Amino acid sequence: MRCERDEIATALWPILGEKAWDVRVVAALSAKKSRAFLLSVLECDCVRRCPMVTKIYKDEGRAFREAEVLARLGSAGVPVPAVVGATPTVLLRRYIDGPVLRDLDCTPVLARKLATWLHSCHVALGSARAEDGMLTRAGLVGDMNLGNFIIDMAQAGQDVCGIDFGDTRIGDPLEDVGEGFMRIFSHGPGYTPDRRECAVAFVREYGRLAGAEDRVWPEVQRHAVEAFRRVAIWRGDPFMNDMAEAVGKMWISLFL
Ligand SMILES: Nc1ncnc2c1ncn2[C@@H]1O[C@H](COP(=O)(O)OP(=O)(O)OP(=O)(O)O)[C@@H](O)[C@H]1O
Ligand SMILES: [Mg+2]
Repeated sequence: MRCERDEIATALWPILGEKAWDVRVVAALSAKKSRAFLLSVLECDCVRRCPMVTKIYKDEGRAFREAEVLARLGSAGVPVPAVVGATPTVLLRRYIDGPVLRDLDCTPVLARKLATWLHSCHVALGSARAEDGMLTRAGLVGDMNLGNFIIDMAQAGQDVCGIDFGDTRIGDPLEDVGEGFMRIFSHGPGYTPDRRECAVAFVREYGRLAGAEDRVWPEVQRHAVEAFRRVAIWRGDPFMNDMAEAVGKMWISLFL
């Protein structure tokens, strides 16, 4: 643990200077795409402490790219954690206090909040629009895992805050909507009528905000099916392939 603390302090030195040596490691959060830690960091007054999260990547440049996306979204008013600083491999951002969506029982209200967040994110990162005003290419979140969204209890509206931009890329924004549908529908206990209602509410709300509800939901079908297929490969889970086929066949009836 001491060794880990010293390693984290060394990694944070370019961002925090002397204060890096006063950082306390509260918990290890994840060790998948990056190593993420919850920290207690001294404020500028060197008296109060503030919770922050650091992500340490293996590949150079990834932390800078994530910091850039966070800064762009933050300045557009999209709820994301504020960036404290970054190096090519280390990102330091503020902690968001609240439950992670993965740990909550989804409701249609929550699903709509996620759709609202996603739509504002796509608008902020958007680049090209078709004639009807729909975004055709935008910065995608690229990982709609429900562990990447937190209800920000410090905000009056308790809005959804997106925290993970390590996989952001350019593409069709409806890819995120298709993956979001898959994540909500399959979230345990998955495939129940309640989950279906939430997943449909998510797609409908996104379509409503995009001003093209009738166009969005038929187009999301392909992306949702692909999202199930991708997970089948990652997890080596043939059941997700069966679900891909079922969702493709049931798509219209899901929305009736
Ligand atoms: N700013 C934050 N505020 C609160 N919790 C956070 C914050 N950043 C990360 N977390 C917590 O740490 C976990 C991992 O963070 P994040 O998703 O950014 O890293 P990751 O490397 O992509 O990990 P994973 O592969 O598990 O998604 C999140 O699921 C969340 O519980
Ligand atoms: Mg994540």
